[in-house]
Amino acid sequence: MIVMVIDMSKKFKIPRGTSDILPQESLVWQDLEKKARKILNLYNYREIRTPIFEETDLFARSMGQTSDVVQKQMLNLTSQRLDEKGHIQLSGLSLRPENTASVVRSYIENSFDKKESLSRLFYLGPMFRGERPQKGRLRQFHQIGVEAIGPGSSSPYLDAEVIALCVNMLKSFGLKKFELKINTLGTLACKNNIHDRLIGCIEPRVDRLCDDCKERYIRNVFRVLDCKKNSCKSVIKAIAFGKDWLDEESLQYYEQVKTALAELDISYTEDPSLVRGLDYYTHTVFEVSDASLGSQDALGAGGRYNHLVSQLGGPQVDAVGFAVGVERILLAKQGSDNESEEDLDLYFLAIEETCVNEIFQMAEQVRRSWKGAPESLSVGINYQVSSMKSQMRAANKARARFVAIYGLDEKRQGKIKLKNMETGAEQDIPKEEFIEKFNAAIIEPGIKE
Ligand code: HAM
Repeated sequence: MIVMVIDMSKKFKIPRGTSDILPQESLVWQDLEKKARKILNLYNYREIRTPIFEETDLFARSMGQTSDVVQKQMLNLTSQRLDEKGHIQLSGLSLRPENTASVVRSYIENSFDKKESLSRLFYLGPMFRGERPQKGRLRQFHQIGVEAIGPGSSSPYLDAEVIALCVNMLKSFGLKKFELKINTLGTLACKNNIHDRLIGCIEPRVDRLCDDCKERYIRNVFRVLDCKKNSCKSVIKAIAFGKDWLDEESLQYYEQVKTALAELDISYTEDPSLVRGLDYYTHTVFEVSDASLGSQDALGAGGRYNHLVSQLGGPQVDAVGFAVGVERILLAKQGSDNESEEDLDLYFLAIEETCVNEIFQMAEQVRRSWKGAPESLSVGINYQVSSMKSQMRAANKARARFVAIYGLDEKRQGKIKLKNMETGAEQDIPKEEFIEKFNAAIIEPGIKE
């Protein structure tokens, strides 16, 4: 039996690097999750929930033995048992530092490849990394992520679509100031070539690297490129990355991704030093950052990982995905002007008391006729009939996308005025066509800029 000494007078505090999400903040989290689900549904992703711990080896094999996460940040679970020498035994389980490995494990275990050619999976939930806590860097943080896995995922169009989803999701959260950086690591052979070239380029300047990077240079030179220290940054800046580091196939694939991004109107910066801190990437890698966040400025990141499924014992299928960090998104939102309240898609207001009954009925008809997912439409009504000005103020406060205005004039003409609150455009719509026109107005513009 293990006897524990318990200090009964101790006052407990929350563990370092974690936070309580209190009821008021919970509303903001729910709002964000609701928006995320809405856009994930739009791109045809389905939710997957995996355990928050897995076998430690799963993470070591996927993220790489030499990655900082595996080397320094794994939170391992210890079992309650002592071995015969009285030492606590490691259980071989770790809290998940990320979710790509777990999703791939589940993909293989549940033979998703036998059921569909492309599995579009998403997740929301806590991740754990034993890092030194600071602003934007926590030990328990939350990610919203997607993984598109399967033979049907080997297309540069999908890379561009996944990047667009990441950007559009951040926009739908109300963020505007972020930057998208992209790069390619090419095929596995190219990645090995880049590795050797980096060794060659950095070798004459190794003494200028910080102590951590001197070690990284030997363990895994790619990690040097992630270092934020000025001395290392100047060494990285001096590296002449060349197109000849990549083969024809990789260059062509990358060109196709960039063309597809341009077709989707997604602006980006190319950064040849972007390699990402996890081992599984090949071809496209990307990161979205907000400089106002300081040193922990990455809002989200991802890329293609065509060999991970087979490396973990599954079929040879390609994959691409990303994850965004919820806490960093909320920090970035604090710095931007639009504080979150509930979003309303449609807000009915009556100009006269005698019009209330009709908007009351109409709002219900709009809700009942909605063909999308129930959580993807919200319709509100202002029962407080007051001046037009104060009702429009209420609509703004509720962050309504559209306002339906109904007064005596509209009643006489059998019409409803629909105002787009973003563009200011107004349309008088015959009552019997209202539901159809509203559905078209709300669906056609897609995700708003
Ligand atoms: P990652 O770059 O390690 O990628 O993490 C993605 C995002 O999670 C980061 O950009 C950041 O916003 C957030 N994040 C990471 N660590 C912390 C931390 N300690 N505190 C707060 N936020 C943090 C991955 O995890 C990959 N699994 C992404 C992926 C999915 N690649 C392909 N599919």
